[in-house]
Amino acid sequence: MNYIGSKHKLSSFLKKAIKDTVGSDLSQLVFCDLFAGTGIVGRNFKPLVKQIIANDVEFYSYVLNRNYIGNHTSLKTQNHLAFLNNLEGKEGFIFHHYCENGNEERLYFSSENGKKIDGIRQQIEAWKRTKEISEDAYYFLLASLIESADKVANTASVYGAYLKKIKKSAQKTLTLLPATFTLTKNTHQVFNEDGNALIHKIKGDILYLDPPYNARQYGSNYHILNTIAKYDTFIPKGKTGLRDYYRSNYCKKNEVQISFEELIKNANFNYVFLSYNNEGLMTENEVKTIMSKYGKYSLKTTNYQRFKADKTENRNHKATATVEYLHILEK
Ligand SMILES: C[S@@+](CC[C@H](N)C(=O)[O-])C[C@H]1O[C@@H](n2cnc3c(N)ncnc32)[C@H](O)[C@@H]1O
Repeated sequence: MNYIGSKHKLSSFLKKAIKDTVGSDLSQLVFCDLFAGTGIVGRNFKPLVKQIIANDVEFYSYVLNRNYIGNHTSLKTQNHLAFLNNLEGKEGFIFHHYCENGNEERLYFSSENGKKIDGIRQQIEAWKRTKEISEDAYYFLLASLIESADKVANTASVYGAYLKKIKKSAQKTLTLLPATFTLTKNTHQVFNEDGNALIHKIKGDILYLDPPYNARQYGSNYHILNTIAKYDTFIPKGKTGLRDYYRSNYCKKNEVQISFEELIKNANFNYVFLSYNNEGLMTENEVKTIMSKYGKYSLKTTNYQRFKADKTENRNHKATATVEYLHILEK
């Protein structure tokens, strides 16, 4: 998924930096990804460590992590996937509020794909209700739907706005592709909480922190993914059909340092790694000052080409060079 702040392209930098600090054998260690987003960091470490703890405050992210991290034994879902891919579309909440030819003409999805999303979403819920599928399969199918719907969304990148015309990739018929996860012997834990609250209840060896670094709230930028994941009923607001959303302190200039210090102070982990960049609400020095109070501090950096989506144009991305920091604390 094309996600704000995704660490997909920084995977090898992170893996090397963490191994260089902690040691190359991670097999007996507990690794926590507290701001997990797409789950890509936890997914990379899942086969290497004893246990992953994954958490994110957004529900769509919980669904992705509940599948990619929480699921660890094989599931028999081929028939269910095939059934869902052949299902007739239905005119439900997504079609009515977020689609071409819906009530509001919000062009987040083509008419066909909106109905497909409603049909598939309702069927997954019905199977859960009748216990036709296990909880693991439920999250696997939901994660598959979120990923597949995102591929045909008619947006420049995030869901803060939709495009005026249905673009080519959004005209393609949605195909439900399996959200494949890695099998492991060990179990993992997945949470859907404010990281500052969860930190009191967990402990481990490596704490990886990748909080939002600017004022863009994830809850508003990915509201449609939450709506597909929750499939609840509410009155969508305004032109973009926004729902009520969680406002993170990490996106607020005058709150972020207080929350960050509280998190570091309460962390029951031997190593803390913080990903942040040079365009963040906290400066490199502010982070250093806070982390240094709680143990041995060091810093690794890498240059990174970030692609900025232009809201009005279709995939007109501009590359900007940023410096990606990895702040390290041995507590
Ligand atoms: C930079 S993104 C993480 C990206 C992730 N590492 C990836 O590669 O996909 C930051 C994440 O923090 C989450 N978040 C924001 N405030 C939070 C909080 N207080 N507690 C937990 N998660 C939070 C957002 O929902 C978002 O998914």
